[in-house]
Amino acid sequence: MKKKKVLFVCLGNICRSPSAEAVLKKLIKDEGLQDTIEVDSSGTIDYHEGESSDLRMQTHAAKRGYVLDHIARKFNSEKDFIESDYIITMDNANYADVISLNAKKEFRNKIFKMSQFSGNINFNEVPDPYYKGAEGFEEVLDILEDFCKVLLEKIKDDIESENKN
Ligand code: 4NP
Repeated sequence: MKKKKVLFVCLGNICRSPSAEAVLKKLIKDEGLQDTIEVDSSGTIDYHEGESSDLRMQTHAAKRGYVLDHIARKFNSEKDFIESDYIITMDNANYADVISLNAKKEFRNKIFKMSQFSGNINFNEVPDPYYKGAEGFEEVLDILEDFCKVLLEKIKDDIESENKN
């Protein structure tokens, strides 16, 4: 079976989406699903293209055992809609931006808000930590650790139902 591809999307691709990528990759590794699910991330703007993740985000993530080794890139509407199975946006603005890039709506069912996967923590968005202090970065990680567990269960369910058909 072809690998499922998850693509997280935020604004700059240096804080939230590379963290989501690292958190989900860790869960996938813990369950031995590396050959089944792959994960990438991107941003809706190219301002930080080619950069490593924000150092504040890297530091907070490292304290929880996550290595943020992603290099920022912009969402590529020529390629990413076709190649991804789950395009998961961090906040409502990222969602609106990705939706607007798919004017014909043929990929509509691949586009999600991260808040659709909330488990124990209730947030409508993964808030942008860029202009916040340490607690903003910790909050992002708390939310992502919770939501990624629910997301992984959904992906596993989808794979299971596809395998039945
Ligand atoms: P991210 O955070 O979208 O989670 O990567 C931000 C990164 C950069 C900027 C804003 C948010 N910026 O304004 O450059």
